[in-house]
Amino acid sequence: MTHAKIQEALEWRYATKKFDSTKKISAQDWKTLTDSLTLAPSSYGIQPWKFLVIENPAVREQLKPVSWGQTQVTDASHYVVFLYKETMDEAFVQKYINRIAEVRGAPLEALDGYKEMMVNNLVKAPEEKIRVWSQRQAYIAMGFLLETAALLKIDATPMEGFDPAAYDKILGLEGTGWKSVATVALGYRHSEDSYQNLKKVRFADEALIEYVK
Ligand SMILES: Cc1cc2nc3c(=O)[nH]c(=O)nc-3n(C[C@H](O)[C@H](O)[C@H](O)COP(=O)(O)O)c2cc1C
Repeated sequence: MTHAKIQEALEWRYATKKFDSTKKISAQDWKTLTDSLTLAPSSYGIQPWKFLVIENPAVREQLKPVSWGQTQVTDASHYVVFLYKETMDEAFVQKYINRIAEVRGAPLEALDGYKEMMVNNLVKAPEEKIRVWSQRQAYIAMGFLLETAALLKIDATPMEGFDPAAYDKILGLEGTGWKSVATVALGYRHSEDSYQNLKKVRFADEALIEYVK
């Protein structure tokens, strides 16, 4: 991937307002997109997230009115709801530790120090702090998904314009410890979506990037 190609993808990407509902993402492309989610980095690597892919058209219809009526919810090829873990408990930390041991073939005892660090910093942290921290992690995965989609020339819309409490109810999340925080619609832009022709509005590089020398 050349610099020019990356640059082109970054310019080509825009928050799609109107999808062509007849076009679907291929299985191969979808696998790469889900890899961008599961391979995204997270604090401690603990992955306090889940990604709900809403395939059921009836459920998507139900979600639309609580998403400011945005048509991307029903018309995009794929619709992903980002969930964050509301609280951090020792059982979840242990689950992650077990996974490290399994994947890397490490003895569990060797991971005691790492586990203790996570218990002290996460499990014992105030719940509000964990909620905010956990939501931040979800946005990292979202960024990876958006960039990967752009590189594949797949359109996407990051979305916060929805009622998370209503989503949690419709998706049966209440009482599960998982909550919705953001969504991404993915697919192919409609030729009539005028937003694709708009110039990007960004502050000048000098206003955003400062070098501390
Ligand atoms: C976290 C987040 C939430 C957003 N929510 C919505 C949304 O609900 N609906 C929408 O059409 N665009 C949404 N956007 C798109 C932004 O408005 C858009 O990215 C921004 O105006 C810059 O334009 P561009 O992405 O086309 O370059 C959201 C973007 C982000 C990053």
